Amino acid sequence: MTAPLLSIENLRAAYGKIEALKGVDLDIKPGEIVALIGANGAGKSTLMMTIFGKPRAKTGRIVFDGVDITDTPTHQIARMSIAQSPEGRRIFQRMSVAENLQMGADAGNSTDAERAAVLERVLTLFPRLRERYSQRGGTLSGGEQQMLAIGRALMSRPRLLLLDEPSLGLAPLITRQIFEAIRALNKQDGLTVLIVEQNANHALRLAHRGYVLVNGLITMSGSGAELLARPEVRAAYLEGGRKV
Ligand SMILES: Nc1ncnc2c1ncn2[C@@H]1O[C@H](COP(=O)(O)OP(=O)(O)O)[C@@H](O)[C@H]1O
Ligand SMILES: [Mg+2]
Repeated sequence: MTAPLLSIENLRAAYGKIEALKGVDLDIKPGEIVALIGANGAGKSTLMMTIFGKPRAKTGRIVFDGVDITDTPTHQIARMSIAQSPEGRRIFQRMSVAENLQMGADAGNSTDAERAAVLERVLTLFPRLRERYSQRGGTLSGGEQQMLAIGRALMSRPRLLLLDEPSLGLAPLITRQIFEAIRALNKQDGLTVLIVEQNANHALRLAHRGYVLVNGLITMSGSGAELLARPEVRAAYLEGGRKV
């Protein structure tokens, strides 16, 4: 069996008295796309942020590439090969597309040639970013800002990419383009991906495996196809029950 690239065991996290994660177990193997689905407030973003140490785990263990990072300071985790595109995109509105991408590269430790190569890869994956290279981030459409947020995360040349609700608020066509880019990164570049989504349909079609998070607990896991076929998943997240 291949060792997981990311392993989360019995993870608990809280905001004061609000327990957002109540003992979560989750594994991601190298080369996998794993989807974490769940309704608004289930704890999906908290799980992603806890990997970066904000908030800190109350109990449990987070192991990345064989290294226990449960107590590692956030700025050090950011320098490991993990990158995230947070919920709500959070690009620098006043900076150009080019500058936003450079900011992503600064967090990494790569040579000029490596940076040029990854920049070219990002601009090939998202041709819209090439067209709008000198434009300010704040003037981009929602979909373009999402592409920029993902592109910026890629600039640090991560092995594991964490995406928090990349489809939120986007039109179906743009969502499809973004999901196709994620698929290409996984297939062609071997990138391992954790994608957090309320949009269960798209996410489970994209992912090799998925987990369902309900009130801070994993209630189901399986292959993307298995979960899509489960009546409970269909009822809660697909057929009218989807809270987007
Ligand atoms: N900064 C915060 N302070 C207090 N409670 C929070 C904070 N962020 C999230 N929560 C609470 O933690 C729970 C999980 O939230 P979150 O991880 O954002 O869920 P999701 O991403 O699945 O919508 C919710 O009950 C939410 O209200
Ligand atoms: Mg969230």
